[in-house]
Amino acid sequence: MAKSKTKTVFFCKECGYESAKWMGQCPGCRQWNTLVEERTAAPSRGKKAGTARAQKLTGLFEVSMEEEERMDSGIPELNRVLGGGIVRGSLILVGGDPGIGKSTLLLQICRNLANAGKDVVYVSGEESLKQIKMRADRLGGFEKEVSLLCETDINVAAELLRERKPDMVVVDSVQTMSSEEVTSAAGSVSQVREVTSVLMQFAKEEGIAVFIVGHVTKEGVVAGPKTLEHMVDTVLYFEGEQNAVYRILRGVKNRFGSTNEIGVFEMKQKGLCEVSNPSQVMLDGRPLDASGSVVVCSMEGTRPLLIEIQALVSPTSFNMPRRTSVGIDYNRVNLLLAVLEKKAGMQLGGCDAYVNLAGGMRLGEPAIDLGIICAVISSYRNLPVHPGTLIFGEVGLTGEVRGVSFVEQRLTEAIKMGFTRCIIPKTNEEALEGSLRNRIQIHGVSNVREVIEIL
Ligand SMILES: Nc1ncnc2c1ncn2[C@@H]1O[C@H](COP(=O)(O)OP(=O)(O)OP(=O)(O)O)[C@@H](O)[C@H]1O
Ligand SMILES: [Mg+2]
Repeated sequence: MAKSKTKTVFFCKECGYESAKWMGQCPGCRQWNTLVEERTAAPSRGKKAGTARAQKLTGLFEVSMEEEERMDSGIPELNRVLGGGIVRGSLILVGGDPGIGKSTLLLQICRNLANAGKDVVYVSGEESLKQIKMRADRLGGFEKEVSLLCETDINVAAELLRERKPDMVVVDSVQTMSSEEVTSAAGSVSQVREVTSVLMQFAKEEGIAVFIVGHVTKEGVVAGPKTLEHMVDTVLYFEGEQNAVYRILRGVKNRFGSTNEIGVFEMKQKGLCEVSNPSQVMLDGRPLDASGSVVVCSMEGTRPLLIEIQALVSPTSFNMPRRTSVGIDYNRVNLLLAVLEKKAGMQLGGCDAYVNLAGGMRLGEPAIDLGIICAVISSYRNLPVHPGTLIFGEVGLTGEVRGVSFVEQRLTEAIKMGFTRCIIPKTNEEALEGSLRNRIQIHGVSNVREVIEIL
């Protein structure tokens, strides 16, 4: 190989934008201070001589539509997030904070596929064979062989894998892999992109499912998997508090299924175990007769999830009242407090307000607005909301309560969980069919004043 000249380029850590000079703001994603300097070999333009293939055009009707073959990962929660199983030839990125359980989950998938008779290779760039063995011993249940490879050079690994042609490959992690063709250090934006593109070619050409692990770092030289999100077919994120036992696997992008499905797991001695009834888990141990606690329903993909919102409103001893929120958008909380002040005449300007979502979850659905409002009212008035009450609805700036979608699913989940009363938007109530009405008491509300009366 001819020795290539190195040159200095700047890459955006967030979107991978490439620039010859440094800029304060990335023109790609408009974020500030995200460009980092890297020395790379000048990229080889075009393919190497002799590798060009003759291509022909294909008509849309000519394309045969066989169902893409999906492999059962042996973990129903994961299958759901993936849209029904692991698609052959797909590239799946699993991101998450350090220690959240990425390697554990992937080793569990390897075990299940191997036990089902598939050929599986686990490539690790960050752990020794002993460490992987220790984790496997902890998980237990390995009946058939899983092939391991400790390697950090992606081209060496890819060559070996091309000969082997397994059914599935796990690469843990993309930041520890490097390619000789790029001179910058492992984990840099250009390395991560190169490694991913090698893996992508390999996955598509050989029709092998490839899982790659990506670390998420707050700040620093290591490229976040954001850069990769465009390149891969599916992006899964592992969320959850480090010290909470519950871990949430969220589909952020999926070329083979719907996104925003979640899978809920619990970290145990035997690895990640599925939680089949997450609403139950989220509501466990909630105070039943405390003011400031209400239960809302949020749709996570196709699944309704009941979750507790807590608010604490107390007179402030500062000039500026303090407001914090955990698990909910801070600005959204401020906006709802302003609506309550203006439209319901509550004097919140002199009060500190803290709003939390229980269980380490993060929710962004507007349907929880009404729940936040109710929690704040309940805490402000020091009146508990009846514990069998479920609340959902979107709240607008004029204090109106707007309808939300998937009302039947939400109500069915509420009934399943033993709730007896529901406060929902008036428009949703009017459109509701009779059978549900008999099974749960429903109050339709059209603005926040009516909510206060009902509470
Ligand atoms: N014996 C055990 N019982 C319960 N949980 C354990 C046990 N051993 C380890 N864990 C959990 O497993 C986690 C480590 O999981 P894992 O190594 O899969 O994470 P990771 O996301 O791959 O981390 P990294 O970013 O370091 O690669 C620990 O943080 C701990 O919570
Ligand atoms: Mg790991």
